[in-house]
Amino acid sequence: MDERKSFPNPTDHPPVRRSFPLPTLHELDVPSLVDSWAHRMYYSVGKDEYTATSWDVYKALALSIRDRLMERWFRTQSDYYESDVKRVYYLSLEFLMGRSLLNNILNLGAYTKYSLALEQVGYRLEHLEEYERDAGLGNGGLGRLAACFLESAATIGLPFYGYGIRYEYGIFNQKIVDGQQVEAPDNWLRNGNPWEVARNDALFPVKFFGRIEHYKDEGGLDRIRWVDTQDVYAMAFDTPILGYKNEIVNSLRLWAARSSREFDLSKFNAGDYVRAVEDKNGTENISKVLYPPDDQYAGKELRLKQQYFFSSATLQDVVRRFLKRKGRKWDELPDKVAIQLNDTHPAVAIPELMRVLVDDHRLDWSYAWDLTQAVFGYTNHTVLPEALETWPMDFFSRLLPRHLQIIVEIDRRLREAVRTRYPDDTARVERMAILDDKNQRLKMANLAITGSHAVNGVAKLHTDILRETTFRDFEELFPGRISNKTNGITPRRWLFKANPGLSALISETIGTAWVGDLEQLSELEKFIGDVSLRERWREVKRANKVTMAHWYKRVHGFDLDPDSMFDVQVKRIHEYKRQLLNVLHVILLYLRIRDGWEPSAPRTVMIGGKAAPSYVVAKRIIHLVNVAGKIIAGDPKVAKHLGLFFLPNYGVSCAEKIFPACELSEQISTAGMEASGTGNMKAALNGALTIGTMDGANVEICDAVGIDNMFIFGHTAPEIVDLRNRGASSSEYIKANPELDRVIRELESGVFEKASPGTFRPIAEMLRGNDYYFHCADFNLYVACQERASDGYVDVEQWTRMSILNVARMGRFSSDRTLRQYAEEIWHVKPIHLRSRG
Ligand code: IMP
Repeated sequence: MDERKSFPNPTDHPPVRRSFPLPTLHELDVPSLVDSWAHRMYYSVGKDEYTATSWDVYKALALSIRDRLMERWFRTQSDYYESDVKRVYYLSLEFLMGRSLLNNILNLGAYTKYSLALEQVGYRLEHLEEYERDAGLGNGGLGRLAACFLESAATIGLPFYGYGIRYEYGIFNQKIVDGQQVEAPDNWLRNGNPWEVARNDALFPVKFFGRIEHYKDEGGLDRIRWVDTQDVYAMAFDTPILGYKNEIVNSLRLWAARSSREFDLSKFNAGDYVRAVEDKNGTENISKVLYPPDDQYAGKELRLKQQYFFSSATLQDVVRRFLKRKGRKWDELPDKVAIQLNDTHPAVAIPELMRVLVDDHRLDWSYAWDLTQAVFGYTNHTVLPEALETWPMDFFSRLLPRHLQIIVEIDRRLREAVRTRYPDDTARVERMAILDDKNQRLKMANLAITGSHAVNGVAKLHTDILRETTFRDFEELFPGRISNKTNGITPRRWLFKANPGLSALISETIGTAWVGDLEQLSELEKFIGDVSLRERWREVKRANKVTMAHWYKRVHGFDLDPDSMFDVQVKRIHEYKRQLLNVLHVILLYLRIRDGWEPSAPRTVMIGGKAAPSYVVAKRIIHLVNVAGKIIAGDPKVAKHLGLFFLPNYGVSCAEKIFPACELSEQISTAGMEASGTGNMKAALNGALTIGTMDGANVEICDAVGIDNMFIFGHTAPEIVDLRNRGASSSEYIKANPELDRVIRELESGVFEKASPGTFRPIAEMLRGNDYYFHCADFNLYVACQERASDGYVDVEQWTRMSILNVARMGRFSSDRTLRQYAEEIWHVKPIHLRSRG
């Protein structure tokens, strides 16, 4: 009873080709939309007016929209085949998609029609949106970038496929209990996911463990095969990704693990029915849960399984699609396939492609290597050494014995090349090697760089650091391989959808072309002198603050004052992002106000973000925000000038509510440590002014909007390196700055920790001892800069001018621009125009 046989497999059951009529494009007029919705309600949801819940109404709506996407998907995909286009495969362990309902409706260009259709049956679109669970299959920037890329690729017309894992549990839900983070599972699929199409027949075996066997082929040549493996099946779930008003629909294909055997026969025969089924579940654990934030690299066994699982399934699918065309030659592979590795998480795809080409398709090593390098590109997302991935060799070789052999050979050839160029430089050979012999580990970044023709950083400063420091040896050996592709965000989600008020005002002023071409926002500059525009700009911003305050009150029960400055820092909690610096400033304001000082403008400081469950210091910072916030709220004299609130469970949908209301955007990482940041772009695109260090993409935002339209402070990246090199100690800054000393003493005094003595003492100790992220060195500069921001906020006309200028100059931060650069400079793919449009 081998279950393998009972699974339909693409190769066992090739599609039966018959002539099907192409699906007709459904109309987008109101009666047709109502009709399609009702059809889905009756025939798919199986409910009627007596039984349908609001969730059912949402589901029927989503399914009827998906129908419209699928019609366009078939047309797009068959165009790709007819034109034999080069396809881009974006491999990412994370896709932080958020919700899809309104974005799909807006990209169909049918917002008003859908609103009217829903009104006819008694519902409001905006209310129904709340029934959609966020697809939170990512931790932060890297995952959200992948999601923005999907939308932009479809919009600019790239044949682009996202490939990842369909986790049953996404990023954990963050609850705040007694001021502290508590993690709860994110069972996002509980009610089903109406956007995905399950492909029961798109099923690929993925092998693990086993051993290597040498054999001679028919021609007498020595060959290697990987045998006695334990197999898991990868089953595809496809989500259609629609471009903005262009009828192009690409795919996000996520893999779920399926057991290769329904039961373990031996256990079943022995009468142990339950254990036999448990075993099956064990196999399926591979796609069970997203690994939470791991800037501190965890190196868990299941994580490597996930990486290989999705890389192997994806490559099988890629090769299948490539070979589908009759008469295909391997020479054509780089003309038809580009694979982008979103960080090193899918780097095992490099030895996997080599295995497929050399072992399965019997190509010679050098030829296979040339093809592999020509196909792969690698994006680096971090310079934090502790976040660079390495795997223990012994564990890797047990799980993937053939891949280790292949990596050893890649490593041997790399070392030889380095030795030839630098004959006496053994230290360089060791630094560049993929195998770290001393620690018996594999360095995945070195593998990814060696196996790719293009490597990129995600902002100018980040790429400079890669070239000059982190990967300097590689830059010297392979000049020109490392390039910059500054991140971007999709304006459809982050302005058009998230901020309907500001979008309408912008469109009224300069027309609607900016939605598909963000550079058009520069037209706004012409209207900066228009008093009525500035007045309406402020009205919109205020209305957004009121909306956010209502939401916060409803969900979290606290009042935010919309007449205060909304000062926001939302992002993952990490020491290098320096939420602590923000809190130190708030404590200073609190102390000053208690002493009788009056700030020029009231402020509401909001901090939101998730901490890795094992990251004790980050969790302590969240705790401090909540405790300090409570103390401030409890002191009426202070509370009328200052508020400090934590924004729990920060995620994509929550961000869409926060950025439109944000006025001061905190981007205050230690210079040289944040690769790019994209929250900085989201806030500025919604009219916030940035207070920030010269780090990540802040540098380019500053270049675009002008230093006079931002609040820039702090030591620069080279200055931070100097401070580190000369062993600068925080005590010199504390000594020179009595107010900083007072803030730290306040932390030491125990006033913040009445309920749990000693809680925040380690923070004070860190600040006085090893302040690795230079909070103290930047404190003075930050406080002075905050004063400039406060003074600036009071000059409402000037602030509004700066806000409009920020929006007007954000055009280059559209992910459409980013994708065009990848397409031209790395993938060599041209945008297509649909032939069968209409
Ligand atoms: P896949 O690329 O094999 O995953 O198939 C995706 C979609 O592309 C199919 O559902 C078809 O709509 C389309 N497609 C697949 N093969 C062909 C072909 O040979 N000619 C035209 N369209 C195709």
